[in-house]
Amino acid sequence: MAYVLPELPYGYDALESHIDARTMEIHHTKHHQAYITKVNDALAGSALADKDIVAVISDLNAVPDAQRVAVRNNGGGHANHSLFWTVMSPGGGAPSGGLAAAIDSDLEGFDKFKASFANAAATRFGSGWAWLVVQNGKLAVGSTANQDNPLMGESVAGLGGTPILGLDVWEHAYYLNYQNRRPDYVAAFFSVIHWEEVARRFAEAKG
Ligand SMILES: [Fe+2]
Repeated sequence: MAYVLPELPYGYDALESHIDARTMEIHHTKHHQAYITKVNDALAGSALADKDIVAVISDLNAVPDAQRVAVRNNGGGHANHSLFWTVMSPGGGAPSGGLAAAIDSDLEGFDKFKASFANAAATRFGSGWAWLVVQNGKLAVGSTANQDNPLMGESVAGLGGTPILGLDVWEHAYYLNYQNRRPDYVAAFFSVIHWEEVARRFAEAKG
């Protein structure tokens, strides 16, 4: 069964003025769709095509050699963007409850976390993602290149763990509105983080 583009849980203009509608529409319908089309092509006729994309990218060794790079890049792209849409919302706000407590204990508080996450996003050279992950029960911040996902493992992605928040820092995510000003885009992202969804993913990752 081929993967399909998930619907956004809000309209393309819902995150204005932080992320503009045109960027959201192109990002979703063109970029995300392209990853889906390419991973579907790579897995066509394979039993792996019936597995959840998160399960597929979590076990790249199970992918045949000839398809592994295509699945890493495009399956990663599908999984990463699928997470990305859900961790944003028009509301914004701040974390609360167990997640806020974990940010305090594992990451020296919300302000330090923000600085650390913004730094991870700003210093990722070229295209990639900044992440908040759960590693061995604790929160950690880092980044990956291209469409690598921490679920691919540290040996592949350079960062391991279960992602609960991800920020796309490919230029296609911000260029129309922010041009080369990635730090401004990163700052704007903090106004649209859907902390309830991040907290739900945190609880799930903690098990
Ligand atoms: Fe993207």
